Amino acid sequence: MRGFWLLVHVLGFTLWLGAGIATMIAGLTAKRFAPAERLAAYRVMSAVFRMVVAPGVVGVLVGGFVLSAPYMRGDVPGWLGLMMGAGGLGALIVLFVVVPTAARLGRLELDPRGELPEVFPRLRKTQIISASIAGGLGIVALIAGTRACVAVRLTNRLPVLQRLCTGQSPHLGRRAEHISAPSSISA
Ligand code: HEM
Repeated sequence: MRGFWLLVHVLGFTLWLGAGIATMIAGLTAKRFAPAERLAAYRVMSAVFRMVVAPGVVGVLVGGFVLSAPYMRGDVPGWLGLMMGAGGLGALIVLFVVVPTAARLGRLELDPRGELPEVFPRLRKTQIISASIAGGLGIVALIAGTRACVAVRLTNRLPVLQRLCTGQSPHLGRRAEHISAPSSISA
């Protein structure tokens, strides 16, 4: 069952971060469009946020909580705590700010002059800021989850990252040196 929840978790952040970056590019590209086409692009992005990003985030949270259960009986390793904190906060921002804002942007109509409605720039700004913060937190969670080994080897200077990096990953087969998983997981 553990493999299934890991799949839900990994699929979840793949959808979240992948579709998030795609909508960012779409939003930037749509800046050049005429008002009607630009609103049409936001309707498409709204559908992507509601039907891809939001289910992805739910998958990350549900998978993450189920996978966390064995750790709750003992110490939570640093990398896992960072993943849960950063990923959890990012997920809540997506569910409570980014997706509702995308839905509102997707419902906008041109004003009577055929221009973008007055509320558009404010909603777009909220969307850019909240999605960037949430995406940044998602990347931090990804770096924590993978123990950022490449970055650590490149810098070879950050003791905190080095400690996170040498933690055991039962799935990726890294050797445990400083951090060991609970026995229920290693078994
Ligand atoms: C965007 C957010 C997140 C990303 C990118 C992410 C990334 C990852 C990655 C790459 C792994 C595989 C680690 C491994 O097996 O070596 C993992 C596993 C895990 N994640 Fe997350 N995660 C996120 C959010 C969360 C949240 C919010 C929670 C808790 C609520 C959580 C809990 C866990 C747990 C418990 C595992 C299994 C750890 C293990 O025993 O190996 N994650 N995650």
